Amino acid sequence: MAGIQLVKPEAISEKSYWSYINDWKAAGEKIIPVASAPGKESFEEQVHQWKNEELGVDLPAGWVSSSLYFLMNEDHKILGAVHIRHELTEALMKLGGHIGYGIRPDERRKGYATTILQQALNEIEKFGISEVLITCDDDNPGSYKAIESNGGVRDPRDEKENGVLIRRYWIR
Ligand SMILES: CC(C)(COP(=O)(O)OP(=O)(O)OC[C@H]1O[C@@H](n2cnc3c(N)ncnc32)[C@H](O)[C@@H]1OP(=O)(O)O)[C@@H](O)C(=O)NCCC(=O)NCCS
Repeated sequence: MAGIQLVKPEAISEKSYWSYINDWKAAGEKIIPVASAPGKESFEEQVHQWKNEELGVDLPAGWVSSSLYFLMNEDHKILGAVHIRHELTEALMKLGGHIGYGIRPDERRKGYATTILQQALNEIEKFGISEVLITCDDDNPGSYKAIESNGGVRDPRDEKENGVLIRRYWIR
């Protein structure tokens, strides 16, 4: 998609970030990826935190380093976000995988999930990951269709979380 690209947190404005967050809040939805939600006092601290997470500095126990990107259009509107985990833990092997993403509620059904995943797969090569695991709820067709459009092959082993079937896909 022309003019739509992944950008690092350092490249977004605070105003566009809050527009993204407020859209999720207005819809009453949990922000996904969770890593893109605000957790710090100020925007500057938040950006610093994302940088640390990428560098693997001060990670909570059981966490691996990760990179966060935002999908931005030509008008600098943030359309969604994607979180790339640099390696898999036992927990991520079951649920979560390498890549988590979300599209803000007011920009859905326009093909952006398919685009954000495609662009994230280009980025993930930089981390030397050639077999990418992505997991998704069985009742989330928007997500699994985007994975399948990007070449996802379903692992015969599903998982379950709180009674919900979790599909596991590999993209090589
Ligand atoms: C799931 C989500 C990422 C989909 O984003 P989106 O930008 O609307 O998806 P796209 O427009 O790229 O659609 C991808 C495909 O799914 C279909 N689709 C999208 N939403 C759908 C829905 N609610 N029901 C059925 N099909 C849907 C589209 O028609 C498209 O199908 P196609 O490839 O056959 O044309 C978005 O709804 C979201 O952020 N949800 C909350 C967070 C989340 O679930 N993240 C994924 C975690 S694994």
